[in-house]
Amino acid sequence: MIKKSIISSCVLVSLFFLFKSFYEKNSLREISSKSNFNVGASVLASPFLEDEQYKNILKRDFNLITIENDLKFAKVHPQRDSYNFVIPDLMVKFAKENNMKVRGHTLVWHATLPDWLTDRKYSKEELTNILKNHIQTVVGHYKGKIYAWDVVNEAYNDDGTLRENIWLQTIGPEYIELAFRWAHEADPDALLFYNDYSNEEINKKSNAIFNMAKSLKEQGVPIDGVGFQMHSSITYKKNYEQIKENFKRYENIGLKTQITEMDVKIQHSNKPNQERLQDQAKMYSETLNACLASSSCNAFITWGVTDKYSWIPDYTGKEDAPLLFDTDYKPKPSYKAVYRALQKNLK
Ligand code: G3I
Repeated sequence: MIKKSIISSCVLVSLFFLFKSFYEKNSLREISSKSNFNVGASVLASPFLEDEQYKNILKRDFNLITIENDLKFAKVHPQRDSYNFVIPDLMVKFAKENNMKVRGHTLVWHATLPDWLTDRKYSKEELTNILKNHIQTVVGHYKGKIYAWDVVNEAYNDDGTLRENIWLQTIGPEYIELAFRWAHEADPDALLFYNDYSNEEINKKSNAIFNMAKSLKEQGVPIDGVGFQMHSSITYKKNYEQIKENFKRYENIGLKTQITEMDVKIQHSNKPNQERLQDQAKMYSETLNACLASSSCNAFITWGVTDKYSWIPDYTGKEDAPLLFDTDYKPKPSYKAVYRALQKNLK
Protein backbone atom coordinates (compact mmCIF):
# COMPACT_ATOMS: atom_id res chain seq x y z
CA MET A 1 0.00 0.00 0.00
CA ILE A 2 2.76 2.44 1.09
CA LYS A 3 4.88 1.30 -1.89
CA LYS A 4 1.96 2.01 -4.24
CA SER A 5 1.44 5.52 -2.94
CA ILE A 6 5.19 6.26 -3.13
CA ILE A 7 5.17 5.13 -6.79
CA SER A 8 2.15 7.25 -7.65
CA SER A 9 3.68 10.30 -5.93
CA CYS A 10 6.88 9.76 -7.95
CA VAL A 11 4.86 9.55 -11.17
CA LEU A 12 3.03 12.79 -10.32
CA VAL A 13 6.28 14.59 -9.44
CA SER A 14 7.95 13.43 -12.69
CA LEU A 15 4.89 14.48 -14.70
CA PHE A 16 5.04 17.89 -13.04
CA PHE A 17 8.72 18.34 -13.95
CA LEU A 18 8.17 17.07 -17.50
CA PHE A 19 5.34 19.57 -17.94
CA LYS A 20 7.42 22.36 -16.37
CA SER A 21 10.36 21.79 -18.69
CA PHE A 22 7.94 21.53 -21.66
CA TYR A 23 6.47 24.92 -20.76
CA GLU A 24 9.85 26.53 -20.25
CA LYS A 25 10.92 25.59 -23.77
CA ASN A 26 7.72 26.32 -25.71
CA SER A 27 5.05 28.97 -26.05
CA LEU A 28 1.73 29.25 -27.87
CA ARG A 29 2.92 32.52 -29.33
CA GLU A 30 6.10 31.08 -30.79
CA ILE A 31 4.35 28.26 -32.58
CA SER A 32 1.46 30.47 -33.84
CA SER A 33 3.55 33.37 -35.03
CA LYS A 34 5.56 31.13 -37.37
CA SER A 35 2.33 30.60 -39.36
CA ASN A 36 0.83 34.08 -38.89
CA PHE A 37 -1.92 32.55 -36.77
CA ASN A 38 -3.36 34.77 -34.03
CA VAL A 39 -3.45 33.35 -30.53
CA GLY A 40 -4.89 35.72 -27.99
CA ALA A 41 -6.44 36.36 -24.61
CA SER A 42 -8.76 39.04 -23.30
CA VAL A 43 -7.31 41.50 -20.81
CA LEU A 44 -8.91 42.93 -17.67
CA ALA A 45 -7.93 46.30 -16.22
CA SER A 46 -7.17 45.40 -12.61
CA PRO A 47 -4.65 42.58 -13.17
CA PHE A 48 -3.24 44.47 -16.14
CA LEU A 49 -2.49 47.44 -13.88
CA GLU A 50 -1.31 45.50 -10.83
CA ASP A 51 0.01 42.09 -11.75
CA GLU A 52 3.39 41.74 -13.51
CA GLN A 53 3.13 37.97 -13.74
CA TYR A 54 -0.15 38.33 -15.64
CA LYS A 55 1.51 40.65 -18.14
CA ASN A 56 4.50 38.32 -18.46
CA ILE A 57 2.22 35.45 -19.46
CA LEU A 58 0.40 37.69 -21.92
CA LYS A 59 3.52 38.70 -23.78
CA ARG A 60 5.12 35.29 -23.60
CA ASP A 61 2.20 33.20 -24.83
CA PHE A 62 -0.02 35.45 -26.94
CA ASN A 63 0.47 37.60 -30.04
CA LEU A 64 -2.92 39.33 -29.65
CA ILE A 65 -4.99 40.84 -26.86
CA THR A 66 -8.68 41.67 -26.74
CA ILE A 67 -9.65 44.53 -24.44
CA GLU A 68 -12.27 42.68 -22.36
CA ASN A 69 -14.27 45.55 -20.85
CA ASP A 70 -12.61 48.93 -21.21
CA LEU A 71 -13.85 49.79 -24.70
CA LYS A 72 -17.47 48.96 -23.91
CA PHE A 73 -19.80 51.94 -24.30
CA ALA A 74 -20.27 52.65 -20.57
CA LYS A 75 -16.52 52.45 -19.89
CA VAL A 76 -15.15 54.47 -22.78
CA HIS A 77 -18.01 56.96 -23.16
CA PRO A 78 -19.30 57.42 -19.59
CA GLN A 79 -20.84 60.87 -20.13
CA ARG A 80 -22.55 62.16 -23.24
CA ASP A 81 -19.76 64.66 -23.92
CA SER A 82 -16.72 62.84 -22.59
CA TYR A 83 -14.69 59.79 -23.39
CA ASN A 84 -12.19 57.94 -21.19
CA PHE A 85 -9.36 56.27 -23.08
CA VAL A 86 -6.89 56.02 -20.18
CA ILE A 87 -6.88 52.25 -19.63
CA PRO A 88 -7.36 51.11 -23.24
CA ASP A 89 -4.54 53.49 -24.26
CA LEU A 90 -2.22 51.71 -21.79
CA MET A 91 -3.27 48.32 -23.15
CA VAL A 92 -2.74 49.39 -26.75
CA LYS A 93 0.70 50.79 -25.79
CA PHE A 94 1.61 47.50 -24.07
CA ALA A 95 0.55 45.57 -27.18
CA LYS A 96 2.61 47.79 -29.47
CA GLU A 97 5.70 47.54 -27.27
CA ASN A 98 5.39 43.78 -27.33
CA ASN A 99 4.51 43.44 -31.00
CA MET A 100 1.01 42.16 -30.35
CA LYS A 101 -2.23 42.86 -32.22
CA VAL A 102 -5.29 44.32 -30.50
CA ARG A 103 -8.97 43.44 -30.95
CA GLY A 104 -11.35 46.20 -29.94
CA HIS A 105 -14.45 44.97 -28.13
CA THR A 106 -17.15 46.20 -28.73
CA LEU A 107 -18.80 49.18 -30.47
CA VAL A 108 -22.50 48.25 -30.50
CA TRP A 109 -24.00 46.02 -27.83
CA HIS A 110 -27.20 45.89 -25.76
CA ALA A 111 -25.26 45.62 -22.47
CA THR A 112 -22.79 47.77 -20.50
CA LEU A 113 -24.45 50.97 -21.68
CA PRO A 114 -24.07 54.19 -19.67
CA ASP A 115 -26.99 55.58 -17.65
CA TRP A 116 -27.07 58.75 -19.74
CA LEU A 117 -28.03 56.60 -22.70
CA THR A 118 -30.56 54.29 -21.05
CA ASP A 119 -32.22 56.73 -18.62
CA ARG A 120 -34.18 58.60 -21.26
CA LYS A 121 -35.65 58.14 -24.72
CA TYR A 122 -33.91 59.57 -27.77
CA SER A 123 -35.41 60.18 -31.20
CA LYS A 124 -34.22 58.11 -34.15
CA GLU A 125 -32.19 61.05 -35.44
CA GLU A 126 -30.59 61.73 -32.03
CA LEU A 127 -29.64 58.09 -31.41
CA THR A 128 -28.30 57.69 -34.94
CA ASN A 129 -26.03 60.69 -34.37
CA ILE A 130 -24.98 59.43 -30.93
CA LEU A 131 -24.02 56.02 -32.32
CA LYS A 132 -22.24 57.45 -35.34
CA ASN A 133 -20.23 59.86 -33.16
CA HIS A 134 -19.45 57.11 -30.66
CA ILE A 135 -18.16 54.70 -33.30
CA GLN A 136 -16.19 57.30 -35.20
CA THR A 137 -14.63 58.82 -32.08
CA VAL A 138 -13.57 55.47 -30.62
CA VAL A 139 -12.40 53.87 -33.88
CA GLY A 140 -10.80 57.17 -34.95
CA HIS A 141 -8.88 57.41 -31.65
CA TYR A 142 -7.27 54.03 -32.40
CA LYS A 143 -6.87 54.45 -36.18
CA GLY A 144 -3.95 52.29 -37.30
CA LYS A 145 -3.55 50.82 -33.79
CA ILE A 146 -6.41 48.37 -33.46
CA TYR A 147 -6.23 45.42 -35.82
CA ALA A 148 -9.87 44.30 -35.61
CA TRP A 149 -13.12 45.50 -34.07
CA ASP A 150 -16.15 43.60 -32.84
CA VAL A 151 -18.41 46.19 -34.45
CA VAL A 152 -21.73 44.64 -33.46
CA ASN A 153 -22.02 42.14 -30.61
CA GLU A 154 -24.88 39.70 -29.86
CA ALA A 155 -27.57 41.24 -32.06
CA TYR A 156 -29.46 37.95 -32.59
CA ASN A 157 -31.74 35.77 -30.47
CA ASP A 158 -31.45 31.97 -30.50
CA ASP A 159 -34.44 31.70 -32.84
CA GLY A 160 -32.68 33.79 -35.47
CA THR A 161 -34.68 36.99 -34.93
CA LEU A 162 -33.02 40.29 -34.11
CA ARG A 163 -32.66 41.02 -30.40
CA GLU A 164 -34.80 43.86 -29.05
CA ASN A 165 -32.35 46.51 -27.93
CA ILE A 166 -32.27 50.29 -27.96
CA TRP A 167 -30.51 50.32 -31.33
CA LEU A 168 -33.12 48.13 -33.05
CA GLN A 169 -36.04 49.82 -31.33
CA THR A 170 -34.96 53.37 -32.12
CA ILE A 171 -32.80 53.22 -35.25
CA GLY A 172 -34.23 50.05 -36.83
CA PRO A 173 -32.49 46.96 -38.28
CA GLU A 174 -30.24 49.13 -40.45
CA TYR A 175 -28.19 50.00 -37.33
CA ILE A 176 -26.03 46.95 -38.07
CA GLU A 177 -25.12 47.99 -41.59
CA LEU A 178 -24.62 51.63 -40.56
CA ALA A 179 -22.27 50.62 -37.75
CA PHE A 180 -20.00 48.75 -40.17
CA ARG A 181 -19.98 51.65 -42.63
CA TRP A 182 -19.17 54.23 -39.91
CA ALA A 183 -16.38 52.09 -38.45
CA HIS A 184 -14.84 51.64 -41.90
CA GLU A 185 -14.94 55.38 -42.56
CA ALA A 186 -13.05 55.97 -39.31
CA ASP A 187 -10.34 53.35 -39.98
CA PRO A 188 -10.40 51.79 -43.45
CA ASP A 189 -7.59 49.35 -42.53
CA ALA A 190 -9.19 47.82 -39.43
CA LEU A 191 -10.88 44.44 -39.85
CA LEU A 192 -14.56 44.57 -38.94
CA PHE A 193 -16.36 41.65 -37.28
CA TYR A 194 -19.85 40.70 -36.19
CA ASN A 195 -19.50 38.71 -32.91
CA ASP A 196 -21.93 36.38 -31.10
CA TYR A 197 -22.39 33.25 -28.94
CA SER A 198 -24.13 29.92 -29.71
CA ASN A 199 -23.48 30.56 -33.39
CA GLU A 200 -20.80 27.91 -33.99
CA GLU A 201 -23.02 24.91 -34.79
CA ILE A 202 -25.67 24.88 -37.52
CA ASN A 203 -28.88 26.25 -35.99
CA LYS A 204 -31.43 29.03 -36.47
CA LYS A 205 -29.19 31.64 -34.93
CA SER A 206 -26.06 30.69 -36.86
CA ASN A 207 -28.04 30.52 -40.12
CA ALA A 208 -29.47 34.01 -39.51
CA ILE A 209 -26.01 35.40 -38.76
CA PHE A 210 -24.49 33.73 -41.82
CA ASN A 211 -27.27 35.10 -44.04
CA MET A 212 -26.85 38.59 -42.59
CA ALA A 213 -23.06 38.54 -43.11
CA LYS A 214 -23.43 37.19 -46.66
CA SER A 215 -26.03 39.78 -47.54
CA LEU A 216 -23.92 42.64 -46.09
CA LYS A 217 -20.92 41.47 -48.11
CA GLU A 218 -22.99 41.19 -51.29
CA GLN A 219 -24.21 44.75 -50.79
CA GLY A 220 -20.65 46.01 -50.39
CA VAL A 221 -20.95 46.74 -46.66
CA PRO A 222 -17.41 46.58 -45.17
CA ILE A 223 -17.63 43.40 -43.08
CA ASP A 224 -14.54 41.18 -42.86
CA GLY A 225 -15.73 38.31 -40.74
CA VAL A 226 -17.69 36.75 -37.92
CA GLY A 227 -16.51 36.03 -34.38
CA PHE A 228 -17.59 32.91 -32.51
CA GLN A 229 -17.38 33.49 -28.78
CA MET A 230 -17.31 29.79 -27.87
CA HIS A 231 -18.12 30.06 -24.16
CA SER A 232 -18.38 26.34 -23.39
CA SER A 233 -18.92 23.74 -20.70
CA ILE A 234 -17.55 20.19 -20.50
CA THR A 235 -21.09 18.95 -19.89
CA TYR A 236 -22.36 20.25 -23.23
CA LYS A 237 -20.83 18.24 -26.06
CA LYS A 238 -20.34 20.20 -29.24
CA ASN A 239 -20.89 18.95 -32.78
CA TYR A 240 -17.47 19.58 -34.30
CA GLU A 241 -18.54 18.45 -37.78
CA GLN A 242 -21.18 21.19 -37.79
CA ILE A 243 -18.64 23.74 -36.56
CA LYS A 244 -16.32 22.80 -39.44
CA GLU A 245 -19.23 22.98 -41.91
CA ASN A 246 -20.11 26.41 -40.55
CA PHE A 247 -16.55 27.76 -40.87
CA LYS A 248 -16.37 26.28 -44.38
CA ARG A 249 -19.41 28.23 -45.56
CA TYR A 250 -17.73 31.46 -44.47
CA GLU A 251 -14.58 30.38 -46.31
CA ASN A 252 -16.71 29.87 -49.45
CA ILE A 253 -17.97 33.47 -49.39
CA GLY A 254 -14.60 34.99 -48.54
CA LEU A 255 -15.29 36.00 -44.93
CA LYS A 256 -12.94 35.36 -42.03
CA THR A 257 -13.89 33.51 -38.86
CA GLN A 258 -12.29 33.83 -35.43
CA ILE A 259 -12.81 32.13 -32.09
CA THR A 260 -13.08 35.24 -29.98
CA GLU A 261 -13.96 34.42 -26.35
CA MET A 262 -13.29 30.79 -25.58
CA ASP A 263 -13.48 29.39 -22.08
CA VAL A 264 -14.71 26.02 -20.79
CA LYS A 265 -16.68 25.68 -17.55
CA ILE A 266 -16.03 22.56 -15.46
CA GLN A 267 -18.39 23.33 -12.54
CA HIS A 268 -21.39 21.28 -13.73
CA SER A 269 -19.64 17.90 -13.92
CA ASN A 270 -19.59 15.28 -11.13
CA LYS A 271 -16.29 13.78 -12.24
CA PRO A 272 -13.07 14.08 -10.19
CA ASN A 273 -11.17 17.29 -10.91
CA GLN A 274 -8.34 15.68 -12.91
CA GLU A 275 -10.87 14.10 -15.27
CA ARG A 276 -12.70 17.38 -15.67
CA LEU A 277 -9.45 19.08 -16.61
CA GLN A 278 -8.78 16.36 -19.19
CA ASP A 279 -12.30 16.80 -20.66
CA GLN A 280 -11.69 20.53 -20.75
CA ALA A 281 -8.36 20.07 -22.53
CA LYS A 282 -10.06 17.89 -25.15
CA MET A 283 -12.75 20.49 -25.73
CA TYR A 284 -10.16 23.22 -26.25
CA SER A 285 -8.15 21.16 -28.74
CA GLU A 286 -11.18 19.89 -30.68
CA THR A 287 -12.51 23.42 -31.04
CA LEU A 288 -9.13 24.70 -32.17
CA ASN A 289 -8.84 21.78 -34.62
CA ALA A 290 -12.20 22.77 -36.12
CA CYS A 291 -10.93 26.33 -36.55
CA LEU A 292 -7.65 25.20 -38.08
CA ALA A 293 -9.48 22.92 -40.53
CA SER A 294 -10.78 26.01 -42.36
CA SER A 295 -8.65 28.64 -44.04
CA SER A 296 -11.30 31.19 -42.93
CA CYS A 297 -10.32 30.82 -39.26
CA ASN A 298 -7.24 32.82 -38.33
CA ALA A 299 -7.55 33.49 -34.59
CA PHE A 300 -8.07 31.60 -31.36
CA ILE A 301 -8.69 33.83 -28.34
CA THR A 302 -9.48 32.81 -24.77
CA TRP A 303 -11.72 34.95 -22.54
CA GLY A 304 -9.13 35.61 -19.90
CA VAL A 305 -5.66 34.38 -19.09
CA THR A 306 -5.68 32.60 -15.73
CA ASP A 307 -8.39 30.98 -13.61
CA LYS A 308 -7.56 33.63 -11.02
CA TYR A 309 -9.48 36.21 -13.04
CA SER A 310 -12.54 35.07 -14.99
CA TRP A 311 -16.07 36.41 -15.34
CA ILE A 312 -17.57 32.94 -14.74
CA PRO A 313 -17.50 32.64 -10.91
CA ASP A 314 -19.05 36.12 -10.64
CA TYR A 315 -21.71 35.20 -13.16
CA THR A 316 -22.64 31.70 -11.95
CA GLY A 317 -21.91 32.24 -8.26
CA LYS A 318 -19.80 29.04 -8.29
CA GLU A 319 -16.08 28.39 -8.40
CA ASP A 320 -14.68 27.30 -11.71
CA ALA A 321 -11.43 26.88 -13.64
CA PRO A 322 -12.25 27.74 -17.25
CA LEU A 323 -8.93 28.88 -18.78
CA LEU A 324 -5.47 27.69 -19.89
CA PHE A 325 -3.56 28.75 -16.74
CA ASP A 326 -4.52 27.86 -13.17
CA THR A 327 -4.79 30.31 -10.26
CA ASP A 328 -1.03 29.96 -9.64
CA TYR A 329 -0.37 30.81 -13.30
CA LYS A 330 0.73 27.25 -14.08
CA PRO A 331 -0.20 25.94 -17.53
CA LYS A 332 -3.01 23.39 -17.32
CA PRO A 333 -3.73 20.29 -19.44
CA SER A 334 -5.82 22.66 -21.61
CA TYR A 335 -2.67 24.68 -22.34
CA LYS A 336 -0.81 21.62 -23.49
CA ALA A 337 -3.76 20.48 -25.62
CA VAL A 338 -3.89 23.87 -27.35
CA TYR A 339 -0.14 23.75 -27.90
CA ARG A 340 -0.35 20.27 -29.43
CA ALA A 341 -3.25 21.27 -31.72
CA LEU A 342 -1.25 24.26 -32.98
CA GLN A 343 1.83 22.11 -33.43
CA LYS A 344 -0.09 19.45 -35.39
CA ASN A 345 -1.94 21.84 -37.68
CA LEU A 346 0.42 24.76 -38.28
CA LYS A 347 3.39 24.33 -40.55
O1 G3I B 1 -14.45 46.77 -11.97
C1 G3I B 1 -15.65 46.78 -11.16
C2 G3I B 1 -15.31 46.83 -9.70
O2 G3I B 1 -14.66 48.04 -9.42
C3 G3I B 1 -16.60 46.69 -8.89
O3 G3I B 1 -16.28 46.64 -7.55
C4 G3I B 1 -17.34 45.42 -9.27
C5 G3I B 1 -18.69 45.30 -8.54
O4 G3I B 1 -19.65 44.63 -9.29
O5 G3I B 1 -17.60 45.47 -10.66
C6 G3I B 1 -16.44 45.53 -11.45
O6 G3I B 1 -16.83 45.59 -12.80
C7 G3I B 1 -17.32 44.39 -13.36
C8 G3I B 1 -16.45 44.07 -14.58
O7 G3I B 1 -16.99 42.96 -15.24
C9 G3I B 1 -14.97 43.80 -14.23
O8 G3I B 1 -14.82 42.56 -13.61
C10 G3I B 1 -18.76 44.63 -13.80
O9 G3I B 1 -19.60 44.78 -12.66
C11 G3I B 1 -19.25 43.46 -14.61
O10 G3I B 1 -20.53 43.76 -15.17
C12 G3I B 1 -18.30 43.20 -15.75
O11 G3I B 1 -18.73 42.04 -16.44
C13 G3I B 1 -18.23 41.85 -17.75
C14 G3I B 1 -19.42 41.56 -18.65
O12 G3I B 1 -18.96 41.19 -19.96
C15 G3I B 1 -20.34 42.77 -18.82
O13 G3I B 1 -19.70 43.80 -19.51
C16 G3I B 1 -17.25 40.68 -17.72
O14 G3I B 1 -16.06 41.05 -17.01
C17 G3I B 1 -16.87 40.29 -19.13
O15 G3I B 1 -16.11 39.11 -19.11
C18 G3I B 1 -18.14 40.03 -19.95
O16 G3I B 1 -17.75 39.73 -21.27
C19 G3I B 1 -18.79 39.35 -22.16
C20 G3I B 1 -18.40 39.89 -23.53
O17 G3I B 1 -18.23 41.29 -23.47
C21 G3I B 1 -19.43 39.52 -24.59
N1 G3I B 1 -19.64 38.08 -24.61
C22 G3I B 1 -19.97 37.47 -23.33
C23 G3I B 1 -18.91 37.81 -22.29
C24 G3I B 1 -19.19 37.13 -20.97
O18 G3I B 1 -20.38 37.62 -20.41
